Amino acid sequence: MMDYRELYKIAKEAAKNAYAPYSRFRVGAALLTAGGKVYTGVNVENASYSAGICAERTAFVKAISEGEREFAAIAVDAGNAPAVPCGICRQFMAEFAPNIDVITGPMKEDEAGGGLRVRPLSQLLPEAFALQTEQPE
Ligand code: THU
Repeated sequence: MMDYRELYKIAKEAAKNAYAPYSRFRVGAALLTAGGKVYTGVNVENASYSAGICAERTAFVKAISEGEREFAAIAVDAGNAPAVPCGICRQFMAEFAPNIDVITGPMKEDEAGGGLRVRPLSQLLPEAFALQTEQPE
C-alpha cells in the first residue's frame, strides 16, 4: 500500500502542470486506486471561467475513463495554501468512492506526521446526494 506522504508528493509534483492563468491558484491531485495505480489531475481553467475543472475531478475522469472503479485515497495539494476539495468535487467523488480517504496539506516536513490531514470523504460530505432509484452500471 502506498504511503500517503508519497501520494501527496505526487499531487504536489502534478500541480506544476496546472493550467490556472486566471486564478493563479495551482492545484494538483493524486488519486490512488484500490489496485495501487495512481492517476494525477490538475485544475484546467478556461477563458469562459465556469468551464474550468478542478484537479480532483480531472483525476477521477482520467481514472474512470480508463476503466477504474475502486479507489482508496486522493491527495490534494495547492502549494502553500491549504486546499480541501470543493463541494462539487465532493459530490463527484461520492458517486464512486463515498469513503475514500482525502489527504490534504500543506506538508510541513519538520512536523511529526508531515502536517497532512487524512479524512474520509463521508466526513467532508455527510449525507451525499444519491438517487434512490436503481443506478445504471
Ligand atoms: N480548485 C481545485 O482544482 N481544487 C480544489 O480543491 C479547489 C479549487 C481550482 C479551481 C480553480 O481553477 C482554482 O482552483 C481557484 O478556485
